[in-house]
Amino acid sequence: MSEKFPHLFTPGRIGNVKIPNRIVFLPHYTAIENDDNTIQDAYINYFAERAKGGIGLLIIDSQAVTFSAKMATKYIHAYEERVIPGYRKMSSEAHRHGSKIFVQLSHGGHTTLTHPPQLLYAPTQMSEPCCHYNTKEMEIEDIKEVVEGFATAAKHVKEGGFDGVDIKGASHDGLLRSFISPYFNRRKDEYGGSFENRMRFPLEVVHAIREAVGPDFVFGVRVCMDEFTSWGYGSEEGKKIVRAFDETGEGGCVWDRHAEEG
Ligand SMILES: Cc1cc2nc3c(=O)[nH]c(=O)nc-3n(C[C@H](O)[C@H](O)[C@H](O)COP(=O)(O)O)c2cc1C
Repeated sequence: MSEKFPHLFTPGRIGNVKIPNRIVFLPHYTAIENDDNTIQDAYINYFAERAKGGIGLLIIDSQAVTFSAKMATKYIHAYEERVIPGYRKMSSEAHRHGSKIFVQLSHGGHTTLTHPPQLLYAPTQMSEPCCHYNTKEMEIEDIKEVVEGFATAAKHVKEGGFDGVDIKGASHDGLLRSFISPYFNRRKDEYGGSFENRMRFPLEVVHAIREAVGPDFVFGVRVCMDEFTSWGYGSEEGKKIVRAFDETGEGGCVWDRHAEEG
């Protein structure tokens, strides 16, 4: 193994965070989260076991930045202050076992897993090919509410003792991806139409998060490079999206750009 992947068990660095090895546990929704939408012991233990097993970097599955962001009823409410004590317990457990730990934040938009009670926010009123619930075309004040939600939630992540924050930027699902997508975003205002307009909301989120967490806190953006569907974007658009995020000084290829030995 170490001959084939000579760097796998060597330390790396993302920004100012030193990671003991190159093994990253990607975010995946567990449905373990407790019914009160805060971090509970079973959830902490699930990740602590991975840390004990030697994972270098754990990225916790996506958490809601507003009530409308939830993709399922058990989603963690990252936008509520009451999550912070559980966050602190979780980050210190990971650190106790030598792992670094980030949290992923997202707004599920209309790509929800179950039918939630809330309205499903979207750039344009339409159903998604994989999720046939109806949607609400977002008003400007809805967009502002979500931008603020991302910033508040990111602040809670930092206060919770985590090493970094990650967002679903133009990921495989989520609201920000729907705004970037020429298929889902058919708006006629400043948030739709041209590439610059479709990137406006995601970039507002990036700037709001950076302001909330300060210049040194590690912050990444997950991007799907090619949607591999007849209606999705391809790799050329994917590269443009990464470049647009990268020009902000954040995300896109941040993992590669800052991952150095030492
Ligand atoms: C049950 C499940 C939940 C997931 N939840 C998330 C998530 O919250 N955020 C995210 O960015 N990706 C999520 N993913 C995608 C994974 O991070 C990963 O990209 C995907 O599983 C492909 O990697 P693999 O081939 O190693 O499974 C999820 C995947 C699964 C199977």
